[in-house]
Amino acid sequence: MSTTEEPRFTFGLWTVGHPGRDPFGEPTRPPRDPVDTVHKLADAGAWGVSLHDDDLVPYGTPAAERDRIVARFGEALRDRGLGVGMATTNLFTHPAFKDGAFTSNDRAVRRAAIGKAMLSIDLGAELGAEVYVFWGGREGTEVGTAKDPRDALERYREAIDVLADYVVEQGYALRFAIEPKPNEPRGDIFLPTVGHALHFITTLQRPAMVGVNPEVAHETMAGLSFHHGVGQALWAGKLFHIDLNGQRIGRYDQDFRFGAEDLKEAFELVRLLERAGYAGPRHFDAHPYRNADEADVWAFARGCMSTYRALAEKARHFDALPEVAEALAAAGAGELGKPSCAGLEEADALRAAAGDLDVLARRGYANEQLDQLVVDVLLGTR
Ligand code: GCO
Ligand code: MN
Ligand code: MN
Repeated sequence: MSTTEEPRFTFGLWTVGHPGRDPFGEPTRPPRDPVDTVHKLADAGAWGVSLHDDDLVPYGTPAAERDRIVARFGEALRDRGLGVGMATTNLFTHPAFKDGAFTSNDRAVRRAAIGKAMLSIDLGAELGAEVYVFWGGREGTEVGTAKDPRDALERYREAIDVLADYVVEQGYALRFAIEPKPNEPRGDIFLPTVGHALHFITTLQRPAMVGVNPEVAHETMAGLSFHHGVGQALWAGKLFHIDLNGQRIGRYDQDFRFGAEDLKEAFELVRLLERAGYAGPRHFDAHPYRNADEADVWAFARGCMSTYRALAEKARHFDALPEVAEALAAAGAGELGKPSCAGLEEADALRAAAGDLDVLARRGYANEQLDQLVVDVLLGTR
């Protein structure tokens, strides 16, 4: 993305449409018509939407009614010029998925899950989605002895492989993105982090078709640096999509407004995405607070986008400051971009360099200065 181009902001139907239900309490907001979401997101300046199959077409809807719902939604998208960033399958709400979907111990459930994903892929393709996400919320267990993780991963692999074949056979222009999460709603979920997912992709039959969809909240729940996870995905050429929100370490999956927690990490993330030229949707997978009313829901949506824009602007400002250039040079940030050696032909020189540690230890890295500059820029004092 060039500095003048507006980022493509997208929101899931289930985000601004979240009714505020939690494990302890009933909904605090009425259900929202997906067409109303399209209108209001367009008014708020979003680029597009994302959806699960069931967000648009409730499970069990007869075929004729399904077609009517999809046509009406497609018309609203065209009317308001909104795109579909990604589509995905709900493989977690129905009680049949209580033991998992692609990794349920019940083979009939696994087959139904693959079939539901096929129908949902058809829907995504019909609406012009560019990415198809797999979030395995129920793909896990509370009881380790109930599932050999090797079998579970093999079934997961089998499902993604057959669905990738399906996309190719149908001629859809869809890429897959796997969304890791360490736990919740299962005690432990398979493919818990970006790193696990990146390795899993190397085992697939069509690895080039599959990337990752990292989420701020999920890596943060595991106590990991989100921008490092995103950095590894970018380095591997696998950042196909991203779920932006806010989260504190060690809590349940909070899914707060983007930037609501840990502004410095959000700054590192936005700076990385902008510098890397990430071109995919900036997708907000977040929920308004449970006590939000209608006005607050749209303040939430506008806040996600304005915080992203402001952080991108802060990142540009930061990188343009001469004192930052100086601190980055003192930190050696640019040096890290250079190869350490030309290869084995330098073996003698490398062995000799091992004797230099006492001298090398004298160097400073100005990290206090550099980090304070980040804080100054974020606080607006510089
Ligand atoms: C979560 C997940 C979900 C998924 C979404 C798409 O609730 O933890 O992030 O929001 O992203 O269901 O599959
Ligand atoms: Mn989440
Ligand atoms: Mn998500």
